[in-house]
Amino acid sequence: MYTVPRLDDYSPDALDKPVADLTSALEQESSAVTDEPSWKEFRDHWMARKNGILTQINDLWLKAAPSPRKREVGRRVNELKAKVEAAVEETRERISGAASQAKFKSDALDVTLPGIRRPLGAEHPIVRTMNDIVGVFKAMGYSVAEGPEIETDYYNFESLNFPPDHPARDMQDTIFLAGQAHKPARDRLLLRTHTSPVQIRTMEKQKPPVRVVIPGRVYRNDAPDATHSPMFHQVEGLAVDTNITFCDLKGSLDHAMKSLFGSSVKTRFRPSFFPFTEPSAEVLISCIFCGGGGYQGAARCPNCKASGWIELLGSGMVDPALYGFVGYDPEKYSGFAFGMGVDRIAAMLYGVTDLQLFFNGDVRFLEQFS
Ligand code: PHE
Repeated sequence: MYTVPRLDDYSPDALDKPVADLTSALEQESSAVTDEPSWKEFRDHWMARKNGILTQINDLWLKAAPSPRKREVGRRVNELKAKVEAAVEETRERISGAASQAKFKSDALDVTLPGIRRPLGAEHPIVRTMNDIVGVFKAMGYSVAEGPEIETDYYNFESLNFPPDHPARDMQDTIFLAGQAHKPARDRLLLRTHTSPVQIRTMEKQKPPVRVVIPGRVYRNDAPDATHSPMFHQVEGLAVDTNITFCDLKGSLDHAMKSLFGSSVKTRFRPSFFPFTEPSAEVLISCIFCGGGGYQGAARCPNCKASGWIELLGSGMVDPALYGFVGYDPEKYSGFAFGMGVDRIAAMLYGVTDLQLFFNGDVRFLEQFS
């Protein structure tokens, strides 16, 4: 690094060399500066009041010069002082320019970067199936209704003709909300166990004719496994009008099943019991896996347990007792209702063997439906 020499000859000619040495050292050190810290070092080396090079040439050159030479030496020292100050300032500008240029470069649009991939979303297979089912009934002139998932005992049970403490309530393992004991029984809240309460809510709101489908989420206290889930989905249907008969129920559901599963599917109605329908029927469809024969080649069909039939719906004629709860005249009106589990139908349609796959949110599973 440059150090200031003592002078012994102060004649103008003798001054040329030390001045030139100093100037070239200044240029060299200036060009070595690349950033803020090295610039500060550079500035202090040349301009620090204590022991900076300017201070040193002032002491070693000017103050030490004999009186007759002081004028000339002073002129040279002043020139050098201006040069050093200019060099320090220029160097600062150079590095701050470089810094902002570097910043600009990093902000600039780099069209060669790969874009941000936004994966395409897709309807969940359950939602798609629910929409498909609803679509079949919409095409038959049904409108769509929904109701709350947190229901009162009244709508979920009592108004559907389940008296308090009636054993039919045990068919549906109910999840009750805590802290309801202080309320009258009918106002206690629970998670609805079926979409049937929306039958009552619909009839309370409108007079016949009624044609409504009700998709929704329902809850039962079942441990999750391949065929059970504490949360699942139903599509409910209700038709009330003058002169509605069991034939209408059969024809409508037969048509709906053919629309959903193909025109070769057969339906079968088997006596059943629900408190809110009389008579009640389970609806079975011919097995879509084995064609209803019960065997796939020589092997028993696992989907219908070799029976050739798969149970899909609960249904029946609206029990006239319900009309009493909603102010319909049971002499004038009749109707039918049905309810089906969406999740099992989706599993059949998409060949899914474990219901949990629908609900645990694994994108690798869901991606297949996009
Ligand atoms: N709500 C019944 C269930 O969840 C199904 C059903 C609906 C039966 C409508 C008859 C009429 O099991």
